[in-house]
Amino acid sequence: MSGRELELAYAQVEVPDPDALAGFFTDVVGLAAGDPTPDGAATFTDDAAVHRVLVSEGPRNDLVALGFEVPDDAAFEARLARLAAVADGAPTEADADPGARRVRRRAVVAAPWGAAVEVVVGLERTATAAPTPLVPGGFLTAGVGFGHAVVATTAFDASLRFATEGLGMVQSDWLETEIVEGVTLEVRFLHCNARHHSLALARAPFELPQALHHLMFETNDRDDVGRAYDRAVAAGLPLPNGLGRHDNDGMFSFYVAGPAGFQVEVGHGAHRIVEPWTDDRRYDRISAWGHHPVAPAP
Ligand SMILES: [Fe+2]
Repeated sequence: MSGRELELAYAQVEVPDPDALAGFFTDVVGLAAGDPTPDGAATFTDDAAVHRVLVSEGPRNDLVALGFEVPDDAAFEARLARLAAVADGAPTEADADPGARRVRRRAVVAAPWGAAVEVVVGLERTATAAPTPLVPGGFLTAGVGFGHAVVATTAFDASLRFATEGLGMVQSDWLETEIVEGVTLEVRFLHCNARHHSLALARAPFELPQALHHLMFETNDRDDVGRAYDRAVAAGLPLPNGLGRHDNDGMFSFYVAGPAGFQVEVGHGAHRIVEPWTDDRRYDRISAWGHHPVAPAP
């Protein structure tokens, strides 16, 4: 990793049918398949890291862990101390087999949104990015982690505190808008490097069947978003949000619902965080244009 302090290293999901999700990640999103982890999770990557998405088999059908990578041991220990002050239970390194995640060090702590957070150092990388022939321009990850994750939680305030005070993330901006009469959508977008947000937290009005709303992968080439869109249409998958551009991060993207329910956003061209960040403000619309639902062809 670069000298950046914190990057989203990987996401682990547990689903009943890993094979269906594998085809989705490789054939629609265009990720490269990697080697299974020692504990049997299928893996996928969008760059030179050995894995960015881990798919385990099980009944949970949701996110089970987000890995955050720090650059060195000093940053690792500092982060654990911060997390211990805000988490229910201190991060534990003792039982966190680093080999299972192909990292040098790993500590695990429960996040209020109902999944684990793993703080890691030294995620294995290869010399060159894994080939992604369906995404010829490759993915934008240098210094900014693999993409972003958006989770919805009823434990919103505790989650925000965990992410900011514990993980040390900083709010980029927030969305607060009435989506239907009487129902307000609130999403807080958090950065920890130049990516506009590596994590966003949505306030859930009640317990949702899945906390994970979506994972986002950002392409270097805008046309690779279009090619992914074509593959999603050809696969007949639901497109909860067709092509559009977000108002806050400026991302040109679309959202496809995968076979496990949670969505994947494939995007390009989001704004970067430039320090000092002075644009933390409320947005009242999700998109500047587009992102309308697209029904699958009959
Ligand atoms: Fe997103």
